[in-house]
Amino acid sequence: MGLPEINGKTKVCGLFGWPVEHSFSPAMHNAAYAGLGLNWVYVPYSVPPNCLRQAVEGMRALGLAGANVTVPHKQSIIPLLDKVDTAARIMGAVNTVRLEQGKLVGYNTDGPGFIQFLAAEANFSPQGKRVLLVGAGGAARAVAVALAGAGAAAIYITNRTPEKAEQLARDVAQAGQLTTRVLPWGRQLPGTVVAEVDLVIQTTPLGMGARSDQVPEFPFTALQPGQLVCDLIYNPNRTLFLQMAAARGATVFNGLGMLLYQGVLAFELWTGLPAPVAIMREALLKQVS
Ligand code: ATR
Repeated sequence: MGLPEINGKTKVCGLFGWPVEHSFSPAMHNAAYAGLGLNWVYVPYSVPPNCLRQAVEGMRALGLAGANVTVPHKQSIIPLLDKVDTAARIMGAVNTVRLEQGKLVGYNTDGPGFIQFLAAEANFSPQGKRVLLVGAGGAARAVAVALAGAGAAAIYITNRTPEKAEQLARDVAQAGQLTTRVLPWGRQLPGTVVAEVDLVIQTTPLGMGARSDQVPEFPFTALQPGQLVCDLIYNPNRTLFLQMAAARGATVFNGLGMLLYQGVLAFELWTGLPAPVAIMREALLKQVS
């Protein structure tokens, strides 16, 4: 891909994180712009926490069309914005900002990205379904709120620290009409629940990168053939959790789809155009491999 021809009409989207060196988003978005011949460019900005306020004001001053927000700013950016979408507020995290008539509006495309991935790649709709979440951190929260909004009938949460699962269960109940239940962690997790859910989602960092030999304690033997099991981790391609689930006959997916579709939704929010999903996927795969 050649450099875009930057001129007075070029629209700029940014990524605010700290650090941003290893992000895949610039490659994914710039490939999308190039693929559609758009005069847009996506630039990563390394913003230290004590400069976030100035960076957000800078967005307005410089007229950036939008920005993604990543670690460690997803929560702390909320009070700096003019408006925050309801689901993002319940998630307590913003990953996408759009400048709308001079106002900075915050959204979260992580959770909705997961829902879109389920539809596009796993042929799964959460409507009326029962879901088991392993973990109750920021990623679990985004996914749980989106699942509730998409009509899930029940969300069960198991977490090492039960208080965090309880808090998440209370917050999720605001996002939809559903049953929430906190289940014991590890060995005590009832196999009967594991066997009856429609979807299991592993959201902890256990099994990621250098910790690829780690796996949360889980009653894998209770899984049923064909049951859907997702891990939000995409590196390695198949975590130990997914390997053990696949060995029980489960249908497994890693976190690459969520990463792709959060980008797809951000692209569509900023440009108003349907995203070139295949191009974005190809750009992402090149980064991962
Ligand atoms: P993220 O925003 O990526 O979800 P996070 O908010 O730090 O990250 O949440 C990490 C999740 O993984 C939490 O559910 C955490 O459990 P606790 O609430 O008990 O901290 C879970 N987690 C992290 N390390 C873990 C470990 N070694 N064993 C079990 N759970 C772990």
